Amino acid sequence: MTLVRARLPRARLGVNIDHVATVRNARGGVHPDPAKAAAVAQAAGADGITIHLREDRRHIRDADLQTVRASTTLPINLEMAATQEMLANALAYKPSAACLVPERREERTTEGGLDVARLHNYVEPFVRQLREAGIRVSLFIEPSLVQIDTAVAMGAPVVELHTGKYVELAFADDTVGAARELARLQEAAAYGHAAGIEIHVGHGLNYDTVRPVAAIPEVRELNIGHFIMGEALFVGLDAAVKRMRQEIDIARGQA
Ligand code: PXP
Repeated sequence: MTLVRARLPRARLGVNIDHVATVRNARGGVHPDPAKAAAVAQAAGADGITIHLREDRRHIRDADLQTVRASTTLPINLEMAATQEMLANALAYKPSAACLVPERREERTTEGGLDVARLHNYVEPFVRQLREAGIRVSLFIEPSLVQIDTAVAMGAPVVELHTGKYVELAFADDTVGAARELARLQEAAAYGHAAGIEIHVGHGLNYDTVRPVAAIPEVRELNIGHFIMGEALFVGLDAAVKRMRQEIDIARGQA
């Protein structure tokens, strides 16, 4: 008997180019240029460019905002902390989308989702002001139903579910734990979708972990950065983006 995989709607791939700037900043100067990476990612099949302007400007810097925009026609997704400084930056820059993320200076990357259930009163005005400016707002949250309920109550049109725990457990060969986390992602995606929210996912995904997440029917966008950039050192950015695009398409029965 031949098993026929269900064909799911195509999911978008947002390529996070922050770490091109990390390498550039290690030496100062202008090389490698994140704007060039955005153009290469677009040519390779990316559907969006994601950048995170951090408070400490450790990778993307203010000047990159304009050069990246000039180098691509893809929608730009600006990841940002919920601070007045970043809100002013986002309102001036007007990206297609803004993803509100938690940010602590001492962390190496975004650890855990934004606890919107606890921070509701603080975060809501950011969602409102970004929406009023015509920016599509996403909240980077843990795959938890309480967080989704709060996102819905706040009027956020999109949530991005943090895949970090699933990836960590899969990497540690904890198959039971990884399956449990995947089930949480599946449940949260179905729940959010039923409530009318668009579902994105991201964090830590690589070729080994992307397919089960990309196969979640309600997922519409995956944002992936660190692994693609690391892989690009060996195979080139064009090939790394194409392979990730292909993994997503296979998972969704598109390839
Ligand atoms: N989505 C969000 C909200 C993030 O903060 C990050 C990391 O900047 C990513 C996706 C991409 O994660 P990674 O670089 O581990 O693929």
